[in-house]
Amino acid sequence: MKVLLLLGFVAVALAEVARFDGEKVIRIRPKTEEHVTIIKEIADSVEVVVSSEVDIHVSAAHADIVSTLLLQSELEHEVLVEDLQASVEDQLDNQEISPRSYNYMKYNSWDKVEAWISSMAASNPSLMTTEVIGQTFEGRSMTVMKIGKQSSSTKPAIFLDCGIHAREWISPAFCQWFVKEAMETYGSDAQMTSLLDQMDVIVLPVFNIDGYVYTWTNNRMWRKTRSRRSGSSCIGADPNRNFDAGWCTTGASSNPCSDTYCGAKAESEVEVKAVADYIRKHLSTIKAYLTVHSYSQLLLFPYSYTYQLAEHHSELVGAPAARCSPSHFHTFTHITPPCYLLWQHQALAEGASKALRSLYGTQYTSGPGAVTIYPAAGGSDDWAYDLGVKYSYTFELRDTGRYGFLLPESQIKPTCEETMLAVKYIAAHVQKNL
Ligand code: ARG
Ligand code: ZN
Repeated sequence: MKVLLLLGFVAVALAEVARFDGEKVIRIRPKTEEHVTIIKEIADSVEVVVSSEVDIHVSAAHADIVSTLLLQSELEHEVLVEDLQASVEDQLDNQEISPRSYNYMKYNSWDKVEAWISSMAASNPSLMTTEVIGQTFEGRSMTVMKIGKQSSSTKPAIFLDCGIHAREWISPAFCQWFVKEAMETYGSDAQMTSLLDQMDVIVLPVFNIDGYVYTWTNNRMWRKTRSRRSGSSCIGADPNRNFDAGWCTTGASSNPCSDTYCGAKAESEVEVKAVADYIRKHLSTIKAYLTVHSYSQLLLFPYSYTYQLAEHHSELVGAPAARCSPSHFHTFTHITPPCYLLWQHQALAEGASKALRSLYGTQYTSGPGAVTIYPAAGGSDDWAYDLGVKYSYTFELRDTGRYGFLLPESQIKPTCEETMLAVKYIAAHVQKNL
């Protein structure tokens, strides 16, 4: 009897974990407005515009009808993932490499990351302090790691966050890697030493902790927070649609069941409010805001909530007119120059992408969010920028869709190594222009 009950419990527990048997990921390239309409009918809440690409998830039950529809309407498409469940299971290497010390080459659960934050702070007292900046909806502590040489005066800082979206596991892996590298190379690497002597880097290793936990326990493809509200049975809002930057005006949904739900109001999500409060409070010291997502291999900068170019700030760089002609930005033909600040952002993003590419040849595309990926309001990058943080960048790490969110652990190291080069490139520029 006891055994039966136990088995029954296990079966129930397993049944709660979302499975993706036979689910496909299909990449579609719409060429006409009609194509866009068809895609919107197939998949609600996708952001799609003509001559962009969109990856949609199709359940096993709908696979045949969708592929017929795509063929009939002559929509260019390719199947990226044949069976998502198989990919989910393949993602974690099954052998433990070094079980004793912390493993930066594996995806780590929140329990491990949380313990790691404490132990890193404990073992690097002269280079690191931690501060709890808030609690998540489910009551987990959001801790930032402030790294840099101790100083009696307040130092200028770079804010770096990872894991805004729960399923983008490579992102928190990068923040952990960054902290490790900083601790290991301070004192030996000239640039890291100079950076941490002069500035602080404030790292939030996992922004959306509740969502991240949920991707480990229940649904690997979860994106949003885990907040609940009366009046809807759907859970969570998209934290990167919840910032107060053109909030919910474009590329976001007001439907609580959508994956891009903008929330009940700007900063309705406690995690967003905590980060926004922290940045507002330290605005005079925060010189750059970097946020890490996946996937697509992009380096984006404002704006995403409008096609408008980022407004000029007081300190302008003299941009050579030739580099500002629309032809240089072949994709931005609908934008009229002059583009002083755009040029500065573009030049920095291109330099960072080039540094990244130098290691393994990984190609990145850079540009303002709205034209490069899609218009989407309420993002942290636009919000920080409009608040006055001039250097505001969103990374979309590897890959371009072969594995997507399920990037194999064997790619953590190369991805983090190359991304370090881009982050250090931006940091050097920020430091030089303090
Ligand atoms: N993939 C990211 C997202 O959808 C891109 C963010 C770009 N920035 C923005 N403000 N939309 O959230
Ligand atoms: Zn994301």
